[in-house]
Amino acid sequence: MIYLDNAATSFPKAPGVAEAVGECLEHGAGGPGRSFGAFGAGPARLIFETRERLATLLGWADPTDIVLTSGATYSLNLALYGLLCPGDHVVTTALEHNAVARPLTHLRDRGIEFTRVPCPEGLSPEQEAFRAALRPNTRLIAMVHASNVSGALLPLAEVASLAREAGVPLLVDASQTLGALPVNAARDRPHLLAFTGHKGLLGPAGTGGLFMDPQIDLQPLCRGGTGSRSFSDEQPRDRPDYFESGTPNVPGLAGLGAAVRFVAKRGVEVIRGHERALIERLLTELAGLPGVTVYGPRRAEERAGLIALNVGELDPAEVGLRLERDYGIITRCGFHCAPWAHESLGTLERGAVRLSVSPFTTESETEQAVRALAEIAARAG
Ligand SMILES: Cc1ncc(COP(=O)(O)O)c(C=O)c1O
Repeated sequence: MIYLDNAATSFPKAPGVAEAVGECLEHGAGGPGRSFGAFGAGPARLIFETRERLATLLGWADPTDIVLTSGATYSLNLALYGLLCPGDHVVTTALEHNAVARPLTHLRDRGIEFTRVPCPEGLSPEQEAFRAALRPNTRLIAMVHASNVSGALLPLAEVASLAREAGVPLLVDASQTLGALPVNAARDRPHLLAFTGHKGLLGPAGTGGLFMDPQIDLQPLCRGGTGSRSFSDEQPRDRPDYFESGTPNVPGLAGLGAAVRFVAKRGVEVIRGHERALIERLLTELAGLPGVTVYGPRRAEERAGLIALNVGELDPAEVGLRLERDYGIITRCGFHCAPWAHESLGTLERGAVRLSVSPFTTESETEQAVRALAEIAARAG
């Protein structure tokens, strides 16, 4: 099998992840602070280490500014529902995943408006387009760091600086970038940054988090037991407990800790270099295939590690099926939970086929994918 669906979920996971999850299950893991001895202290230590490693990866000194969640979807919902009030306006982009698009569409019924900065052909907008969309009542800029459809990288540092200048918080969806591209919260200073554990971080599904600037005031999305201040029926205000009610996913977070350790050891710059070289080669070779349409930026440095394409007039589902059945190549076809992005690309009618790489993808695997696509395109033509 050649796995080119890492933008959906990475496979394989980092070395050490399965062992960390297994060890946690075999040796018991109650909720942190909820019992004594190894059952209480072990999970608390594991979770603390994971939080600390994530903070270090983000270049941020205080691990308590990282809220651990079930994934980017929860993190984005926490940020949007925790911050926005009726009468607020949000600037967002036409490349957002449904994890942002659906909450914003739902929040419209509560009197919260949004403006989508256009992204024709799936390309990144300039900083000035964000500035032009600001209104006096803009309460948030919500921007994906890299589109999971066109692959376009958006200008995080520039938009963060605009947000600070305008006094409007910036929420970044780094689902496709953390672990795969350098993201430094101390340097770029986004106010909120949502990430997932199961893509570029190479960890288990059902893990992720939200980086939160300490100056940002958010309402929690859910309240309950935190294992702290248990004598009180009021939600403790201490961070991150304020946002982390209920027994955490200790095995998943232990796995995420092992994954982040691997990513940090290999080095995000090295991972980025590897993936960029694969994408550059793919872009060059796919451009030479008659009948294949590649969407998004032309240059690898303007992209994350993924490419969406179509073959002639073929249904993308048919292409995905042939790749898997005839060549053992796993891709993702359809709409990638991102109808706005497909609308920007002009592919809302039929979707696209997406190829996405990881630190473990080899050049021989991407070569085989190109050859397979060439044969499918030749037969279709
Ligand atoms: C850009 C983007 N945002 C959000 C998500 C949702 O992430 P999660 O699976 O962690 O909820 C994804 C993953 O599909 C994504 O690609």
